[in-house]
Formats: sequence, C-alpha cells, structure tokens
Amino acid sequence: MIGTLYGVGVGPGDPQLMTFKAADILRNVPVIAYVVDDKGGSFARQVAAAHIPPSAVELPLHFSMSPQRERRLSTRQNAASLVSEQLLMGKDVAFITEGDPLLYSTFQHLLSVMPPEARVEICPGVSSFTAAAAAAQFPLAIENQRMVIAAADEDTVSQLDKWLPQFEVIVLFKVHRRIKEIASALGQAGALSQAVLIQHASSADKSAVTKLADWDGSALPYFSILLIRGTENSSC
Ligand SMILES: C[S@@+](CC[C@H](N)C(=O)[O-])C[C@H]1O[C@@H](n2cnc3c(N)ncnc32)[C@H](O)[C@@H]1O
Repeated sequence: MIGTLYGVGVGPGDPQLMTFKAADILRNVPVIAYVVDDKGGSFARQVAAAHIPPSAVELPLHFSMSPQRERRLSTRQNAASLVSEQLLMGKDVAFITEGDPLLYSTFQHLLSVMPPEARVEICPGVSSFTAAAAAAQFPLAIENQRMVIAAADEDTVSQLDKWLPQFEVIVLFKVHRRIKEIASALGQAGALSQAVLIQHASSADKSAVTKLADWDGSALPYFSILLIRGTENSSC
C-alpha cells in the first residue's frame, strides 16, 4: 500500500513547544524529510532532534530560492519525486517544518507538486506569531477584533497606513530585510511606538523582545517578526 505523507509542524524553536502528536509521528514513520540550506543545515531538524530515532531514514531536501521560477519549480519537482519514491515503496514520510506547516512553509510548495493521489495528513504546529505574542505578552485579538497577517513585501509596506486604522493588530512575517522601510512607514503614520519586534521567539538563549522605536538599527536575524497595534483600538 502507498505510504502517507505527513506535514508535521515542530513549532517555533523551543523543543518543548512540539506537540505530543508530532513526536508520536516522528517515532513511528520510517522516513523523515526536511529542507536543508546550502550548508546542509536544518532548523526544523535541530528542533525535532530528540524525537528522531536512529533507525529513521533521513531525506534532506533542497528547495531553491532563486529568482528564476524554473529553477524553483525544478527543485520542488525533484523533492516531490524523492518523497513519492518512498511513498510508492509503502513507506510513510514525515516532512518536518518549523512553526506550522500551512503558514509560510516550504511544505506548501511540496504539496503543490505532489501527485493528486498522494495520501496526506497535516499535524499543526505552534506558529512563530503566537510564540512571539507570548514572548512579548502582546494580546492578539478578542471578541470582534480584526487581525491581519502578512509577509513584509513591498506591497505590504505600502499598505500599512491603510491597515493601521482597519485592523486592531497587524502581524508581519519576514521583516528582516525591510525593517527600515517598515519603521519609516510606521513613523510617518504616527504608529512607531505601537510596534514590537521579536527575534528568535521561544529560543532560550537568543530570544529578544524590543519596541521598534528602541531598535538600534542593527541587522536582524531571519527569525524576526513584528507585532503592530492598530490605531483605532476598539475597547471590549
Ligand atoms: C518561512 S516562515 C516560517 C513560518 C512558520 N511556518 C510559522 O508557522 O511560524 C519564516 C518567517 O517566520 C518568522 N519566524 C519563524 N520562526 C520565528 C521565531 N522563532 N521567532 C521570530 N520569527 C520567526 C520570521 O518572520 C521568518 O522570517
């Protein structure tokens, strides 16, 4: 029988934030796949390390981030073929992913090219934005409040002044390269003091919570996220 592909979220970094279900899956599947960077490193593997049995076959997968679409697609297809090969041999495969597998995750790229007959199950993970809110003690939404989640691309930065009065909370992922532009846009909208920057949420030794207004301009790690309080806060 064909195997099952599990998309397994391992949480934002603290291994204690992995779920029991994720740990169970890793204990029981014969093949564990994960994305590796150019140096062969994998953050998800690092987080899940204690739950990967020595008997597991590991499948490191490379996904190109090239600006060339063809190049990106070909690495996705290659990853899907390697995973499908295992599934067709009847082996279950767990693809581990940092945070949640359905939120800004490479797992979604893999899913998009898997054959339609593939059997897939998703094990959700604690996402970095809730870990960041916990670290900053930043309440996200209550009652009828609205929250928007976006990646910090050029379009997002240009929308901030419109979103500030529309949403009680704005969550920005992938802010490390655009933090100056974001700070400037928030400053112009009079909302700089409402933004909190969280680096390495849930990591015991690296986690840092800073008001954006106090940020010293130093380069940010990839694992940085911004929580912004909107300007028209409805009281509950
Ligand atoms: C490819 S996305 C992965 C998101 C992940 N699937 C999730 O559910 O959190 C990477 C972005 O998530 C955010 N991120 C992930 N882990 C983080 C952490 N521990 N602390 C702060 N931001 C984090 C950063 O904005 C980073 O650029």
